Amino acid sequence: MFNFFRTQPVSPTAITDITARVVQDSRRKPTVSVTVHVGAHSGTFSVPSGASTGEREVVALPAKEAVRAIKRIIAPALIGCSVLDQAAIDDQLHELDGTANFASLGGNAALGVSVAATKAAASVKELETWEYIETLFATPAQAKAPRLFVNLINGGAHADRGSQIQEHQVIPETDNVHEAFRVASAVQRTLRDVLHEEFSDADIGIGDEGGFMVPTQTLEAPFRYLARAAAETEAGCAVSLGSDVAACSFWQGAHYELAGQSLDSAGLTTRLNALLAQFPTLTYVEDPAGEHDTEGFSRFLADNPACTVIGDDLTTTNPKILEQAIAARAISGIIIKPNQIGTVSDTLATMRLAYQHDVRCVVSHRSGETMDDFIADLAYGTKCFGLKAGAPTAKERLAKYQRLLTIAQ
Ligand code: PGA
Ligand code: ZN
Repeated sequence: MFNFFRTQPVSPTAITDITARVVQDSRRKPTVSVTVHVGAHSGTFSVPSGASTGEREVVALPAKEAVRAIKRIIAPALIGCSVLDQAAIDDQLHELDGTANFASLGGNAALGVSVAATKAAASVKELETWEYIETLFATPAQAKAPRLFVNLINGGAHADRGSQIQEHQVIPETDNVHEAFRVASAVQRTLRDVLHEEFSDADIGIGDEGGFMVPTQTLEAPFRYLARAAAETEAGCAVSLGSDVAACSFWQGAHYELAGQSLDSAGLTTRLNALLAQFPTLTYVEDPAGEHDTEGFSRFLADNPACTVIGDDLTTTNPKILEQAIAARAISGIIIKPNQIGTVSDTLATMRLAYQHDVRCVVSHRSGETMDDFIADLAYGTKCFGLKAGAPTAKERLAKYQRLLTIAQ
């Protein structure tokens, strides 16, 4: 019998639907959550957002507009495409958008779809997301498992008091993630006691990334508390200190305005060199200069060759900018934030380039986070140098650590 209504058989790997809705992030701000369906399989991703964003990040549209773009433009174009062709999906997103920075669809719309597709593809292949990423990345490892960059004292744009420096981290020097997590959590407990000796209950708050906020007067004080907490904690490994200076946040157009001092680029380097001289274990420093001050990065790295100098606002996970930073000898590490660049393929391209040049990749959350734990899969699947996910006591941050611990088991 002839069946006039018979359509082409649907491939078992074809995207059958893409749905999107508005949800709230950890700052109670609206953000996008996307689900890519492939028959009975699906992948969902909720997009994070930054407070101290780099100027060259892709554009995030208001969540409602991003949802509209997904429903009206992206879904009709991608339904029917193979979920297993990540490169084609991400190329399509660029083509549909037509700008260099996802200004028309929204980088948040693009990334939501891109990551949800990665997760759905893993499900179709009956792989864990990190295993599927490993097949997409196909590049020799940078580490056995990522080191944890744990931000325990919040400042700058992520806090309402204290130092202008944005992050004060501990980094347990081990690629055993269970040990690293145990040590970081123990240091956090010791730190709580240290801070309670110095400050009243009312003075101690919790910042955007779950770390403590304290009304410190100097740039040095938070590192002193961290160094003391690390020394007083029983750890089976060395514990380094790290910092995201986020220098853009105190750049005033013609100079840096830091802790009551007006500094030019060389002056800021001198000030930070003095900080490092006081804390020999402070060996990871992110954004020690502003995003337009590549020279400041190069000077700081030349002065501190043993320090991992990490670009974030400078590089915005962008392979072209990374190339320039490498040529300028500006960095020895890079923060990887998928929502700075908008797709999984672009994120992996940046990481590949970094690996080729021995630039350490630190996959990172954003200050406005969701319960999504994709970055743990990304960090483990690429076997990158580090994972930066905030203080383990905040639920959106803990979700990432727990996922990493489960994967590594
Ligand atoms: P953001 O902060 O998410 O607010 O940009 C994180 C960082 O600067 O590393
Ligand atoms: Zn940063």
